[in-house]
Amino acid sequence: MKNIRKITCIGAGYVGGPTMSVIAQKNLNVEVTVVDLNETRIAAWNDDDLSKLPVYEPGLDEVVKEARGRNLFFSTDVDKAIDEADMIFISVNTPTKTYGKGKGQAADLKYIELCARQIAAVAKSDKIVVEKSTLPVRTAEALKSILDNTGNGVNFHILSNPEFLAEGTAVTDLHNPDRVLIGGEDADAIEALVSVYEAWVPRERILTTNLWSSELSKLVANAFLAQRVSSINAISELCEVTGANVDEVSRAIGQDSRIGSKFLKASVGFGGSCFQKDILNLVYIARTYNLHAVADYWEQVILLNDHQKTRFAENIIKTMYNTVNGKSIAFLGWAFKKDTNDTRESAAIYVADHLLAEEANVIVYDPKVPAEQIYKDLDYLGTRSPEDNRRLVKVVNDPYEALSGAHAAAVLTEWDEFKGYDWAKIKEDMKRPSFVFDGRKLLDRKQLLELGFAYYAIGE
Ligand code: NAD
Ligand code: UGA
Repeated sequence: MKNIRKITCIGAGYVGGPTMSVIAQKNLNVEVTVVDLNETRIAAWNDDDLSKLPVYEPGLDEVVKEARGRNLFFSTDVDKAIDEADMIFISVNTPTKTYGKGKGQAADLKYIELCARQIAAVAKSDKIVVEKSTLPVRTAEALKSILDNTGNGVNFHILSNPEFLAEGTAVTDLHNPDRVLIGGEDADAIEALVSVYEAWVPRERILTTNLWSSELSKLVANAFLAQRVSSINAISELCEVTGANVDEVSRAIGQDSRIGSKFLKASVGFGGSCFQKDILNLVYIARTYNLHAVADYWEQVILLNDHQKTRFAENIIKTMYNTVNGKSIAFLGWAFKKDTNDTRESAAIYVADHLLAEEANVIVYDPKVPAEQIYKDLDYLGTRSPEDNRRLVKVVNDPYEALSGAHAAAVLTEWDEFKGYDWAKIKEDMKRPSFVFDGRKLLDRKQLLELGFAYYAIGE
């Protein structure tokens, strides 16, 4: 078995950064280099001030502090890192295509192909190439073809090793994974990667499969998780009209060990960079094989999620006497979930867009998301001019400032700190009636009603 001494990871994002930090932390005898084209990102990974790391994850600063400079390095010199590595992880982004065939559904593999071509051009010795990015099933075939046809005659072994960490809990997920999945054809290459994980993951939790099962399992895992959220969100709407309470329903069904209690929290809709992208990709793959019933089935998970976001925004408008024009709505939270600074596909973006179309004034407070990111997210939608986004949206660093004088508060992210606010003081400072729309069922309904708020939560 090849002894792995040097690992390179291409892509220093939400997956590459934390994953490689933990691999380095747990494998003292392996030198790990994470490379990226984005110089600002690499500079932030190298910043002495650990609060400036480009990815906010609880506990990540400690891991980076321990390993960086010892056997963990961040660099923009991609060629050198490829040349020196025994094993190369590809952890670049694979967003939904925004052009051409498959636009709006298929995964855009241009960054993956660029990596493959660069590896082939640079490599002068045999390499194990690991797909860490989430990829459509059978991508390994294309990768192998590019590597073999454009390379310098060296051997490439391709493995699929999808990542299952969730943002906000990345470090604990990496330290204690439910499973590590490795798909491949070459037994020695598989064993080499198993040995990296075996440094801290019990052997029985390291599953090995063929390449296609591994690639497909990643898409299917995300589809099943997202499907649970859409399922409970569908029921939340039924709860609202029948007097049932969605949390009580979740608890009642979740106690059945065949159903299980996780991922049954009703919300304003799931966000994040992957659920929607990966399901769309699954739908696209099914359609390319003419499996339309399969495609339609999974597409419904996305349609219901869109419905949930729209429904939340429309309920705000309807409750506020069918007009929010000129009214101030304070958004608590912008990130797609708590404990992350990631806003990709966050429900908050779409709810804001809906309210802004009605000329509402939105004041945003999020503990980890900077103003530039919030404006960037809105501008990216292209619904209105950047000037109009800045005219209608204000971003503040103090939640009490956001809420003072507001007609309504809307909870979009389940940050713990929102629960501990002085809601009595907030009530004093808000306009009357003081509406609270809780898209996360986070706040204490009883307390808020006693304080005189008009409180509306998803699913009750
Ligand atoms: P990201 O956008 O945060 O990071 C990707 C990085 O790759 C960027 O910094 C980009 O500059 C860099 N990059 C792109 N092309 C490059 C190239 N040719 N050379 C060097 N660097 C290049 O993305 P992410 O969230 O880390 O996701 C990466 C992959 O992992 C995706 O396929 C995603 O589906 C998958 N994934 C993500 C998560 C998650 O929680 N974010 C979890 C599991 C799997
Ligand atoms: C998800 C998966 O959980 C990871 O296993 C996977 O690796 C990752 O996608 C990926 O491939 O990118 P992530 O998107 O980071 O992780 O976060 P989740 O905890 O899954 O939450 C996704 C969205 O669903 C969030 O908006 C969250 O608020 C929402 N959600 C989650 C609910 O509304 N209800 C729930 O019960 C659970």
